Amino acid sequence: MKIIKTVSEMISSGSPGMGFVPTMGYLHEGHLSLIRRSVSENEKTAVSIFVNPVQFAPDEDFLTYPRNLERDISLCEQAGADILFTPDADEMYPEGFQTYVDLTELTKGLCGQSRPGHFKGVCTAVAKLFNIIRPESAYFGQKDIQQLAVVRQMTADLNFGIRIVGCPTVREPDGLAMSSRNAYLSPEQRKAAVILSQSLQYAKQLHENGENDINILKNAVTKRLETEPLAKIDYVSNIEDVIAIAVFIGKTRLIDNICIGS
Ligand code: PAF
Repeated sequence: MKIIKTVSEMISSGSPGMGFVPTMGYLHEGHLSLIRRSVSENEKTAVSIFVNPVQFAPDEDFLTYPRNLERDISLCEQAGADILFTPDADEMYPEGFQTYVDLTELTKGLCGQSRPGHFKGVCTAVAKLFNIIRPESAYFGQKDIQQLAVVRQMTADLNFGIRIVGCPTVREPDGLAMSSRNAYLSPEQRKAAVILSQSLQYAKQLHENGENDINILKNAVTKRLETEPLAKIDYVSNIEDVIAIAVFIGKTRLIDNICIGS
């Protein structure tokens, strides 16, 4: 596996038929499932690790975001990646940088509302990475369901011509969606965090038993979440037949979602 730190070397190392997995590192089984999928579907796979400062608000966790490059390098290698692109912030945003990519509609609710400017940062970084790597396909987790929708829209709107592949959320044995931010949880908070997937599963069950009203289902999720004293709801919302939630467990903001349709 080739490790590349500069934009110019990455541009000259590109090749047709490349699969791409953008990440912020501190890789877990969710990321590895994206890398393996890309490896199985493409001639070559590039993974990027870039903790993108532009998608964090000043009061968010950019400085404390978990990092472990040595471990990530060996995980990428084991998963079969061919290229690991690890630019630093000056490489991605050199002095004088002033162009940002933003959407007008899809970023209005959910995480876009709770984290103003977040998706502008995500889209700017992803658009740059798309231009630098020029992949044929790019792989994103369905856990970040709004991010997936936003990236799909941006890719279509700006004619990137890249196939965007959404991949299933990978979960811990108790149901908690894998996330690099799970590392912030104390043992007590980690136990409490299972309430996210439990409340979504509960809604799915109600739906399977005949409840079709999305507002009743969202209320049921809210009520379930409220039974956990360590959980503070940021939002319980829906995008069509997907119920999406963001919940603080202590200071850690976790997201999850479930598709209640078929
Ligand atoms: O999902 C992430 O890890 C990030 O938002 C991404 C897509 C790598 C952009 O920085």
